[in-house]
Amino acid sequence: MARLVLLSLLLLQASINLVVFVSATNFNNDVELTWGGDRGKIIENGNLLQLSLDKASGSGFQSKSEYLFGRIDMKIKVVPGNSAGTVTAYYLSSQGSKHDEIDFEFLGNVTGEPYILHTNVFSQGKGNREQQFYLWFDPRLDFHTYSILWNPQTIIFYVDETPIREFKNEEDKGVTYLKDQAMRLYSSLWDADDWATRGGLVKTDWSKAPFTASYRGFSVNACVFAAGKSSCGSAGAPNASWWEQSLDGGGAQKLKWVRDNYMIYDYCQDTKRFPQGFPPECSAL
Ligand SMILES: *[C@@H]1O[C@H](CO)[C@@H](O)[C@H](O)[C@H]1NC(C)=O
Ligand SMILES: *[C@@H]1O[C@H](CO)[C@@H](O)[C@H](O)[C@H]1NC(C)=O
Repeated sequence: MARLVLLSLLLLQASINLVVFVSATNFNNDVELTWGGDRGKIIENGNLLQLSLDKASGSGFQSKSEYLFGRIDMKIKVVPGNSAGTVTAYYLSSQGSKHDEIDFEFLGNVTGEPYILHTNVFSQGKGNREQQFYLWFDPRLDFHTYSILWNPQTIIFYVDETPIREFKNEEDKGVTYLKDQAMRLYSSLWDADDWATRGGLVKTDWSKAPFTASYRGFSVNACVFAAGKSSCGSAGAPNASWWEQSLDGGGAQKLKWVRDNYMIYDYCQDTKRFPQGFPPECSAL
């Protein structure tokens, strides 16, 4: 019995120690290229990462750590020029069939036509929460910062600090929230010309390959989850602004500006898709 108590004390101690904050800046230390061979590369002393796609394969990377709540920022320059058919995905995801996921996907387009920023939220395996946007700039021309804020109250998607989407903790309304499963950051560049161009309307122009997306300025302020044990909540709330952050009045106004001017699809307005009524989280808007 005493041994058991000692063991659980040790585990508790370990779980507290594992809750640490990191603010990452170097791709060499913090991510690993996971597929696509030399189509993915880390250069400039770990400050620049590039993924590319050719007819044979795309490529991808993932964070070495798993996070349970945090604020993640990444500067991304999407595939320039004629990128129709390519998809650059940047998302947090846990493992398994009941997984949680917070998604940014950039759907390419022919030269001169706008990218679509596609977003989704999965909680315990349930997704079907797509929202799509055009951007107020051409994301091909320069790096822009795409951020995910994820704390126990809310999830906010930001583009250059402008909130574009919020998914609140509404467990009180019976909506499952993302709070029990640690997630890793993933990014990949792949060919999806069967659906990403309005149902496959435009095909990838392989004469323009390889297609390349670039990443800089990866910054993580998060609770790192390891050895299956740590939990931010029980180990004490971190003293960090993102832990408490929510949309203030100014943020809500910016979000409305984005929705009014740049949103092109919202599952919460798709009556054809939900003839029996919208999912419960839709009523908050
Ligand atoms: C591509 O451009 C067309 C024409 O402007 C637009 O309708 C479409 O939403 C754009 N994005 C994608 C991914 O097709
Ligand atoms: C949190 O951090 C700030 C600045 O680092 C410090 O001033 C404050 O006292 C801290 N609060 C707690 C509760 O530790």
